[in-house]
Amino acid sequence: MREVEFHNGNTMPQIGLGVFRVEDGEDCKNAVKHAIVNGYRSIDTAMIYKNEKSVGEGIKAGIKEAGIDRSDLFVTSKLWLDDYGPGNVEKAYDTSLENLQLDYLDLYLMHWPGTDEDLMIETWHEMERLYNNNRVKNIGVSNFMVSHMETLLQRTDVKPVINQVEYHPYLVQNDLKLYLDSRKIVMESWSPLVNAKILDDETIKEIAEETGKSPAQVVIRWNIENGLVTIPKSVTPERIEENIDVFGFSLSKTQISRINQLNKDERNGPDPATFTGNR
Ligand SMILES: NC(=O)c1ccc[n+]([C@@H]2O[C@H](COP(=O)([O-])OP(=O)(O)OC[C@H]3O[C@@H](n4cnc5c(N)ncnc54)[C@H](OP(=O)(O)O)[C@@H]3O)[C@@H](O)[C@H]2O)c1
Repeated sequence: MREVEFHNGNTMPQIGLGVFRVEDGEDCKNAVKHAIVNGYRSIDTAMIYKNEKSVGEGIKAGIKEAGIDRSDLFVTSKLWLDDYGPGNVEKAYDTSLENLQLDYLDLYLMHWPGTDEDLMIETWHEMERLYNNNRVKNIGVSNFMVSHMETLLQRTDVKPVINQVEYHPYLVQNDLKLYLDSRKIVMESWSPLVNAKILDDETIKEIAEETGKSPAQVVIRWNIENGLVTIPKSVTPERIEENIDVFGFSLSKTQISRINQLNKDERNGPDPATFTGNR
């Protein structure tokens, strides 16, 4: 599995399994297990997905069947907005660990910036404390726009290693990508397949024909070639296998630029400038 390197020297697999909207239970456990047994080394969950328990069971079963160690895996979870602020962050982190039956996370993310700048900063200070106390391997953010990044970098000490944002051919966020690249912060794509909608796009289908790959593989490969970390979600065993099988081919410069041209600045998820998670 190809990896990206963070500014702190740690690394992360470039493809992981996402588990948003997968109910806690057997399906979730089986998807995580199937992914690990088939070569995934990174799993992305969040407190708010309410499936950390079965993700943890899937990890345990997957590790056993694949014959690997916990340290071979990269596990991400996220701090929800309700748990922002002094005194809350470590508690929430411990709850995630308990749910997952793990004693550390590889990456802990602030899930959204929120709309209260001081609260965002206070929360990041608590994230910094977790990191400085070696309780977590890496800390990062999610859904931060350039303005949030600027505030964070100006007012705090530990730079996030990653920013996980909505990113796909219909929303490429070039300004944010340039900003993050120039500060050596990795950009990570959520909803890389636009929740399966991109798979019906005519250009994507054309390129799939040209390369002899599936539309999902074309889009995931496009993520890889643009240097992002990507976390396609699937609970379907064949698709889980298909989505990681993208290292035996490449896209031509023309194919990449044809996909880049699909951008229409179209968000599917909430606007990070105003999203409060119904606080
Ligand atoms: N930080 C955030 O705020 C945030 C927000 C949203 C998502 N995320 C993360 O990003 C991950 C991915 O995003 P997402 O779940 O929104 O959507 P996605 O990965 O863009 O798309 C998932 C959908 O595509 C289908 N699919 C997957 N592989 C396929 C294939 N090879 N062929 C055909 N269909 C395929 C899946 O169906 P089946 O499962 O039925 O196979 C599912 O319906 C999430 O799971 C989560 O971990 C983070």
